[in-house]
Amino acid sequence: MVERFVDIEKVGGSIPPRITRRWQAGQLVERNIDVVDAGGSLPAIVYDFRRWQAGSPSPRTKSMQKTILSIETSCDETSIALIRTHKTDTGISVDVLAHIVHSQANLHAEFGGVFPALAKREHGLNLVPVMLKVIAESKEKENELFKTQIEASIETKEKIQKVLEREPDLYEHIVQHLLGVSGEGIDVIAITQGPGLEPALWVGINFAHALKVLWPHVEVIPVNHMEGHLVSALFENNVIKTPNFPMTTLLVSGGHTEIIHMDSWGSYTIVGKTRDDAVGEAYDKTARLLGLSYPGGPEIGRLAERARVEQIPSPVELPRPMIGTPDLDFSFSGLKTAVLYAVRDNEFSEDEKAGLPANRLTAQAEWQAGLAREFEEAVADVLTTKLFKALVESGAQSCAFGGGVMASKYLREKLAEKVAEAGSNIDIYMPAHNLTGDNALMIALALGVRLHHTPEHITSTDSIRAIGNLKL
Ligand code: KG4
Ligand code: ZN
Repeated sequence: MVERFVDIEKVGGSIPPRITRRWQAGQLVERNIDVVDAGGSLPAIVYDFRRWQAGSPSPRTKSMQKTILSIETSCDETSIALIRTHKTDTGISVDVLAHIVHSQANLHAEFGGVFPALAKREHGLNLVPVMLKVIAESKEKENELFKTQIEASIETKEKIQKVLEREPDLYEHIVQHLLGVSGEGIDVIAITQGPGLEPALWVGINFAHALKVLWPHVEVIPVNHMEGHLVSALFENNVIKTPNFPMTTLLVSGGHTEIIHMDSWGSYTIVGKTRDDAVGEAYDKTARLLGLSYPGGPEIGRLAERARVEQIPSPVELPRPMIGTPDLDFSFSGLKTAVLYAVRDNEFSEDEKAGLPANRLTAQAEWQAGLAREFEEAVADVLTTKLFKALVESGAQSCAFGGGVMASKYLREKLAEKVAEAGSNIDIYMPAHNLTGDNALMIALALGVRLHHTPEHITSTDSIRAIGNLKL
């Protein structure tokens, strides 16, 4: 799994310099916080701290209502959400006050995968700008939020400096932009504790601890990232639905491939998992072998779709690893190796590479599209077969899906078909497309479930630590 991340010794590069930062010490009104110098830029943030009037109280939280600020930094997305939840007869009703996801994927693309030191640095630089966007967005919905201004004491500042001794950028940004901000309307901070990349997780955790110094009334609660992926499937029309249990869930991401059995809220039994690479990892490695950019999932998906539409056949037959084993485990590293051999065995002439008429794919591109199609079909065959087995064995009444790989339209269709085959009465829960990849909303939703359904499972501690291989 560690292989999934870029080893700087192997790539021999160094972190590219960060160019655009326009933070000026002591300046209260910040314009053009150009957080993103590569890829999917955040719109410029224009925020006027002086508009915050002192003295008007923020809305008080009603007894069963919880306002949750969530922070996600486990991999290459810096994300923060603010939601308000309350329990209803059908589930948990959620008002999304703000949700910002800032992806670093383009920065990592040149390394062909996530480069940990770069991810850590970028989270440090992006967290406060993303937080300012969350503040601005939630104020648009609810004017009373973040209205009160506070004056942080020297002591508070020193405490924050101590918490952030390893994150100097973050400290600098907090001092410049958040010291006057009151978190009065917020009840809880949900912070991703793991699984994920530890240096990246630590930045988010330290940020949460720094906010706790600033806002002592707020509780900071660790959340499992995979629980977030799972709960995001149940989120429909602003409600976290209560599924009929037992429920079987397939989680497929860059670091995980797991089948989870649940008899009730908060009870997770992992009944199947990958023995080597995760599905997303196999997508990313296959994309790299085909010379496609990171992240590989969308690229492979696009090529495979083209092959299906244009009826380009598969040039080779790839294995379906462990498809017939009696357990519910997976293995995807053999698939990547088979792609490696197929790529090695295929040499294209310069003419073929250069291509023919514009409306035709080159021979090489056709070959790649056919291979992408075969790869996606191999993955679908294995996932659907094991899921079917899990559903039948568990007598599941509901089936949920989660993780970045669920962005694949093809896999969504194939998996849904298979669930229907396993039982027409099984309810299917799929995450909305924008909640398949990593995001902070799912972290807030996961905490919402715990707060309202299983508060006894909540562990609150003053010092949370990152756990890279945290289990559900
Ligand atoms: O859940 P996620 O965003 O991050 C982790 O927690 O790992 O998953 C990222 C993975 C990457 O491997 C990426 O290639 C894959 O999700 N992915 C896809 C698609 N979009 C992203 N895989 C298949 N098809 C897609 N459309
Ligand atoms: Zn994830």
